[in-house]
Amino acid sequence: MTNTGNGRTAKLEAGHNQVTELQIMSGSVGPDVIDIRKLYAQTGTFTYDPGFTSTAACQSKITYIDGDEGVLLHRGYRIEDLAEHCDFLEVCYLILYGELPTEAEKAKFVHGVTYHTMVHEQILNLIRGFRRDAHPMAVLIAMVGALSAFYHEDLDINDPHNRMIATYRLIAKMPTIASLAYKYSAGQPFMYPQNRHTYAGNFLHMMFGVPCEPYEVDPVLAKALDRIFILHADHEQNASTSTVRLVGSTGASPYAAISAGIASLWGPAHGGANEAVVQMLGEVGSVDKIPEFIKRAKDKDDPFRLMGFGHRVYKNYDPRAGVLKSSADEVLELLGQGDNPKLAIARELERIALEDDYFQERKLFPNVDFYSGIILEAMHIPTSMFTAIFALARTVGWIAQWNEMVEDPEQKIGRPRQLYTGPAQRAFVPMDQRG
Ligand code: CMC
Repeated sequence: MTNTGNGRTAKLEAGHNQVTELQIMSGSVGPDVIDIRKLYAQTGTFTYDPGFTSTAACQSKITYIDGDEGVLLHRGYRIEDLAEHCDFLEVCYLILYGELPTEAEKAKFVHGVTYHTMVHEQILNLIRGFRRDAHPMAVLIAMVGALSAFYHEDLDINDPHNRMIATYRLIAKMPTIASLAYKYSAGQPFMYPQNRHTYAGNFLHMMFGVPCEPYEVDPVLAKALDRIFILHADHEQNASTSTVRLVGSTGASPYAAISAGIASLWGPAHGGANEAVVQMLGEVGSVDKIPEFIKRAKDKDDPFRLMGFGHRVYKNYDPRAGVLKSSADEVLELLGQGDNPKLAIARELERIALEDDYFQERKLFPNVDFYSGIILEAMHIPTSMFTAIFALARTVGWIAQWNEMVEDPEQKIGRPRQLYTGPAQRAFVPMDQRG
């Protein structure tokens, strides 16, 4: 539990009270926070922080990031260790329950997830209502939102059992829904999940299998994909997670809250960056064109940014990018694509950018999206599915954070304030007197 910073306070001169004392709170690691909850009542002033660069919106025990050191911990465990030693469902268990599972606990969890993977047949009909060229993220937003219409009983979010069923359902059905979205766009028959496969293997089966012949899951691909899932599982209070918490804070259905999280993830500044990176590497085309793109990225009059570079929190190498960089080398070698031109461009782009003053001064390093797209593309996953895969993997983080929020006694409906800059009250002007 948070302590109150050993009685330390911050003093603030503002508003109608000359000096206001604000309590300082400490977490287990990381920066202290100043508790401003009573600031308005005491001083009549708000704080101003668009983009929440200095605002802790909640307490959480799930994920810790030290952006200066490039450290990411889930429940205290380093992401590098989890990526090396665990599979995705083991990490899901850890994120949800706070501890690594025993063998029996893991088996029970895997069984629970495996037996929730099918979706209601009406979901297939809903997907058939889309245009064939619908982006999979649009389909995902709609279908996950639609789950709220199928599972009314989950609307009692105060029942922990109901919350856990919703949690299992979401983790289990996301790969099914994402692959259905892909199959529909490809004009191929929908594939049902098969319980004999692993979580990642099942996704590959539903993506690439066809009913007319058996599909053998390549264990190398399944492991590489599973690792990508692990690296995207949670990332504390990012835009999409904060969206899930904000929607959830109103008491809305968890399916609606996760659907909103998927919408938030879609943008190129967030999860959409993996798709944008591969497009960018394609545009760069060859190593000799890199300086031209670096120049554009530095030009303030050019909206172009180096996609997959920079992060709000990391001012050091994103540890997930580190794991993915070695994974990319390994996987592409195993797939016989060691000479993949995009990987060569990415490596060289990274090298040049990291030596450049502009990137050094601003502490811009590769983030998780820089190498993930290259691996996914080498696995023949279409670009439009990259962010859907991010969403699939992030679902555990979203739902764990939603559960934590619902259980938090300090939780309130999220309701930011504003600095109003519009007109003050004025007299109404009838139409014939306007202009
Ligand atoms: N290329 C060129 N310049 C950049 C980049 C970039 N990728 N990222 C930041 N900058 C510059 C920016 O122009 C600004 O310069 P100045 O101080 O001269 O105005 C400075 O660095 C700080 O940037 P910011 O936009 O104030 O930083 P932010 O914390 O608001 O934005 C970011 C973080 C991730 C949105 C941004 O770095 C970015 O747009 N990166 C490219 C998109 C991307 O890779 N997104 C994935 C993020 S990680 C995974 C995820 O969240 O899903």
